[in-house]
Amino acid sequence: MATTTSAPSVNITTVLHENRVFPPPKSFAKAAWIKSMAEYKKLYHESIRQPEKFWARQAKEELVWFKPWKSVLQWKLPQAKWFAGGQLNVCYNCLDRHLNTPTANKAALIWEGEPAGPGTPGEERTYTYKQLHREVCLFANVLKRNGVQKGDRVIIYLPMTPEAAMAMLACARIGAVHSVVFGGFSAQSVADRIFDSQAKVVITADGGFRRGSVVPLKKSVDDALALKDAAGNLLAKTIEKVIVLRRSNHEIHIQEGRDVWWHREVQNVEADCPAEKLESETPLFILYTSGSTGKPKGILHTTAGYLLQAKLTTKYVFDLRPEDVYWCTADVGWVTGHSYVVYGPLANGATSLMYEGAPNYPEPDRFWRIVAKYGVTILYTAPTAIRAFMKWGPQWPDKHDLSSLRLLGTVGEPINPEAWMWYREVIGHKRCPIVDTWWQTETGGIMITPLPGATPTKPGTATLPFFGVVPEVVDDQGHPVPKNSGGKLVLRRPWPGMLRGIWGDPARFVQTYWSEVPGCYFTGDGCRQDKDGYYWIVGRIDDVLNVAGHRIGTAEVESALVSHPNVAEAAVVGRSDDLKGQALVAFVTLKTGILASPGIREELRLHVAREIGPVAKPDDIRFAEMLPKTRSGKIMRRLLKQIAGGGEIKGDTTTLEDFSVLARLAAAEE
Ligand code: WT7
Repeated sequence: MATTTSAPSVNITTVLHENRVFPPPKSFAKAAWIKSMAEYKKLYHESIRQPEKFWARQAKEELVWFKPWKSVLQWKLPQAKWFAGGQLNVCYNCLDRHLNTPTANKAALIWEGEPAGPGTPGEERTYTYKQLHREVCLFANVLKRNGVQKGDRVIIYLPMTPEAAMAMLACARIGAVHSVVFGGFSAQSVADRIFDSQAKVVITADGGFRRGSVVPLKKSVDDALALKDAAGNLLAKTIEKVIVLRRSNHEIHIQEGRDVWWHREVQNVEADCPAEKLESETPLFILYTSGSTGKPKGILHTTAGYLLQAKLTTKYVFDLRPEDVYWCTADVGWVTGHSYVVYGPLANGATSLMYEGAPNYPEPDRFWRIVAKYGVTILYTAPTAIRAFMKWGPQWPDKHDLSSLRLLGTVGEPINPEAWMWYREVIGHKRCPIVDTWWQTETGGIMITPLPGATPTKPGTATLPFFGVVPEVVDDQGHPVPKNSGGKLVLRRPWPGMLRGIWGDPARFVQTYWSEVPGCYFTGDGCRQDKDGYYWIVGRIDDVLNVAGHRIGTAEVESALVSHPNVAEAAVVGRSDDLKGQALVAFVTLKTGILASPGIREELRLHVAREIGPVAKPDDIRFAEMLPKTRSGKIMRRLLKQIAGGGEIKGDTTTLEDFSVLARLAAAEE
């Protein structure tokens, strides 16, 4: 993989904050699962020196097994087998295991739908563990009735409703492999994912709600099922059934024989559905994520290791107690929603809150209203949301009683120290520890993070590795760099929740993750370790951008742009953005005879939304006569990044930029 690594720059405010240290609050140091640095270090060292002993103990204590494993870890780079020979079921570990305990009648999911208007509550539903178990068993039987068997792939394209969690758990129960597609993705994205995973069934809804309008999910599925590749073959020809949830009462087309209603189907099945006994390495889910080439990668996670990672990190990082009301604001379409809305909290018997809508709909106090209403104790959200709250002003959180909160988490991108301090002061009232958690779709669970009872925190750093994780900052040759120098972040050891592959593409798996630095997993992130050994993640150093916490490959946006009939060439780079972290800037050359205009600019933005989804819409489109290239014909991204970072695009957006001089200069320098 061609990654150009320049030493990640160190932000000056970051350095200023490096010396601000916040010790764990006394209440945590007294009662947390991990109460001191000494305790953390002892366990951490055990997890590194005797990993098999450490993980065997955790697997035994934390998970319910139908059959014990024969070996803890078989590791032959790049393939890990964790707990081989063992049998278990993820759904059983999330639901059934709680049924003969006092947790049975505790709320497993509390759901709030998008509200109708200002000051109104959203629709509300709560499922106890027992109730959720029943719903999941019913739906698992619906899947079976519709032909889904162990190993089959199922696409879940639903709004943030309890049924999204039920569908995931039902797949896990019968050994089907789910692939959740974020509801904001386009028909084309759905079709590509169906094609890549060769899925048999799609689960969708007549519509979802977003900021007062209906998102026509079923309509997108209909479109996806009709899409063809360049040779004229249907992309989604493996789909046999579409199961449709009634959510919005939006009028939809039902194709007899193919489309069935969720609520009708559950009336035709029994509530008895034993959990399949599955081998530890049985595929659990595929989740597509952008990489540095055009096509999203199907990240594969399996059963035992993933579940152990999700369960253990949820317990220790959020210091989960039985009485907590835990709210992770992520959509289940992203990995955070998998591990920290569904699997991690439920495996721990926690109460997990789910919210369907946007943070500022109908008003910018939506989150704080929900925190106060349900007495949320743990809140896990993204820096981009925190920066938006900062912009909307403290009057919105100040209107509500936030005293139930005891711990705050953040994930998805580097958090700037200003946002960290605001989160701590305005939301946490200086009382709540902040856990800045670094991880990735590929890692399955949190990798670098403070533990709230043990780790002194500093604004802007994810601090220290979780148990079993061995990060290292290395140079281009793979040698460790001294403290305080920038480099590439790698992980030296296998961990239980690690990805097991890229679906259908073993060569790309090796290329992307295991070739950059020999012997290690390459994260794609730049990092610096400070004098205390804390890891400061700087952000992606490959051609992947992080826009509002969403991972977007520049190559994917480029190929969407050039698929437009008027576009000759496109290059997409990032520039920093106060709210979204990074923004997408596209440099486009149009085909001969096509004139740049505001109209075509908007048309191209919409085209990208149709091809990928609104999250990938370029923030700026700049038209150029030609793109700056090296003599060997490679687009000079570094140059474009500098130009893009030069500020807002000026007045007339349709003036063609002439890079020919710059390009010649740079080529001469080469
Ligand atoms: C990329 C992974 C992990 C769930 C959400 C995103 C960035 C994530 C942090 C953090 C700095 C972070 C990295 C990483 N990232 N968390 N706490 N500090 N950067 O998952 O879409 O797979 O993206 O998000 O760049 O590589 P993802």
